[in-house]
Amino acid sequence: MLPKTLEWKDDRLMILDQTKLPHQVTYIQCSDHRDVAEAIKSMRVRGAPAIGVAAAFGLYLGSVDSEAKSYRDFFKEFAEAEKELSLTRPTARNLFWALERMKNLLEKNRDEPPEKLKMLLLREAKMILREDQDLCRKIGENGAALIEDGDRILTHCNAGSLATAGIGTALGIIYTALDEGKKVKVYADETRPALQGARLTVWELIQAGVDTTLVCDSAAGILMRGKMIDIVLVGADRIAANGDFANKIGTYNLAILAKEHGIPFFVAAPYSTIDPALNSGNDIQIEEREAREVTHISGQRIAPDGVTVYNPVFDVTPHQYVDGIITDQGLFKPNSEGKNFLDREV
Ligand code: MRU
Repeated sequence: MLPKTLEWKDDRLMILDQTKLPHQVTYIQCSDHRDVAEAIKSMRVRGAPAIGVAAAFGLYLGSVDSEAKSYRDFFKEFAEAEKELSLTRPTARNLFWALERMKNLLEKNRDEPPEKLKMLLLREAKMILREDQDLCRKIGENGAALIEDGDRILTHCNAGSLATAGIGTALGIIYTALDEGKKVKVYADETRPALQGARLTVWELIQAGVDTTLVCDSAAGILMRGKMIDIVLVGADRIAANGDFANKIGTYNLAILAKEHGIPFFVAAPYSTIDPALNSGNDIQIEEREAREVTHISGQRIAPDGVTVYNPVFDVTPHQYVDGIITDQGLFKPNSEGKNFLDREV
C-alpha cells in the first residue's frame, strides 16, 4: 500500500516529502501556514489536487493561534495566510479553488465567534481531503470505461496517488482498470526538469503492480509512430471554459503527436480544476521556476555556469487536441469551436 500523500495527525499536517522520493519516505510536519506554503513552493507536495488540500489545512493552521476577538481582526490574520499560500504555485487551479472555498465559509459565518470559526475551518479542510478521495474514485470509474484490456497507455508527469489525497486522476483510472481485471501496460515519461515521471509515477506504478516502462520525454514520437501506444492519459492543472488546459510542460507536444498518429488523447481531473472564469487557455498563467531545475540534476550541475535558462513548467494544450476530459462528474468532450464545453456532458 502506498504511503499517504498528506495526513492530518495530532493537530499537524503531515506531508510526504516528494523531493526525497524515491530514495526516502519521510514526512515533514507543518504547524503553521508558512510551513505549508514552503512545502507547496518547493514541491514537497505537488499535483494540483494535493496542493489544494494542503492549502486548506494551511489556512486553518494560519488561523488557529489567532487571539482575535472580532471577525474583522480574525479575518485580517486569515487573509495574510491566504495571501502567502496564494503566492506559491500560480497555475494550479485547485490551490485557488480551496482558498476561495475556505474564505467563502468564513464570510458565510461572520457572525460566529473566532473559536467557532477555527473549528469550522478545520472541519472544511478535512472535508476537502475526504472529497478529494471520493472524486478520485469517481474519476477512476468514469475513465476506466475507456480503457480496454491490453491497452498500452502513455502518461506524463505524475497524476497519481502522490498528486492527490486519493488514488490519483490519470493513474487512478489505470488502478481502477486493473481492479476491473484489465491488463494494461504503462509508458511513463521521465518528465524533465523535475522528473516527476521517473521519481514518482514509476515508483507508485511499480508498487501497485503495474507493468511499467520509463521513457525519455523525447521518446514519445518513436513510441507512437511504432504503434506502441493505444491511448494517452494525462492530468491537468487548470482547464479553461473552452476545454483548453494547462498541464506539465511537454503535454502539448504529446497532444500534437497523438493527433498526428490518430491516438486518443484524454485528460483526467476533478471538476474543480475547471476555471469557468477563463475563456481560453491563453488566459492561464504559466508558472516559471528557477534555472537550477534545468541546469542541475540531483544537485549535480549538468550545464555550463552562467547559461541563460527559460523554465516554464506548464504548457497549454488547445481543446482541438483533446478527445475528452474525464471528471468526477462525467466525461466532457470539447466541441470544435470550444463553445459550451461545460454544458456538453456525454
Ligand atoms: O509541477 P507539478 O508536479 O505540481 O505538476 C503536476 C502536474 O502537472 C499534474 O499532471 C497535475 O497537477 C494533475 S495531478 C492530479
